[in-house]
Amino acid sequence: MNLVPCALVLALGLGVAMPAAAEYADVVLDRASTKNGMRPVVFPHWFHRIRFRCKVCHSELGFKMRAGSNAIQMNDIIEGRFCGMCHNGQIAWTPDRCDLCHSGKPGVAPGIYGASETKGPGKW
Ligand code: HEC
Ligand code: HEC
Ligand code: HEC
Repeated sequence: MNLVPCALVLALGLGVAMPAAAEYADVVLDRASTKNGMRPVVFPHWFHRIRFRCKVCHSELGFKMRAGSNAIQMNDIIEGRFCGMCHNGQIAWTPDRCDLCHSGKPGVAPGIYGASETKGPGKW
């Protein structure tokens, strides 16, 4: 058996020594949440990315491809823009489930967390 590819697969699988890349990870968004008394938002990028094509979000829905670069208001979401294009009770659950999105631990800095792991709400 060939040990080299085997070790490589293991390293990738565990996310060992891999730089955090949003393509695989979670993004913590907090341009306005903490300021307005809400916990930061944890967006599980990998969870979504395996379900939808990049262009759905980064071209059709207008999410800029840089962590922290999107100024998103709750009204946008409730009116069906950004996350609200899907979190509308049809494609996914509704915007009134505040804690599922605003699940960041208080004080967690915005940015990219995890590597191949994406644990969804409440992890960071
Ligand atoms: C589908 C995910 C999602 C759900 C559900 C959600 N939010 Fe948000 N919310 C966001 C995102 C994304 C932002 C922008 C994050 C940032 O940059 O701070 C945001 C921002 C906010 C902000 C700051 C901006 C503004 O509009 O004032 C407040 C306050 C807020 N949400 C309150 C709520 C409340 C209250 C609920 C439940 C009724 C809720 N959110 C449910 C995703 C969500
Ligand atoms: C369901 C929507 C969605 C899908 C699908 C999606 N992304 Fe993202 N992506 C986001 C959001 C939201 C952010 C965070 C933006 C922010 O923080 O303002 C993001 C951030 C990023 C970033 C920024 C990372 C950084 O270092 O700043 C990159 C790169 C990226 N996505 C690439 C991709 C690629 C490549 C795909 C397809 C393989 C993809 N995305 C699919 C929503 C999505
Ligand atoms: C292109 C459609 C789409 C967009 C845009 C989208 N989501 Fe989702 N999201 C989904 C679907 C589908 C699910 C799975 C729903 C289910 O399991 O019932 C989901 C699930 C989630 C989950 C739960 C993940 C888990 O582990 O169960 C979170 C948290 C979440 N979304 C946050 C967000 C936030 C925050 C945004 C905006 C930054 C966003 N989503 C934008 C489609 C989307």
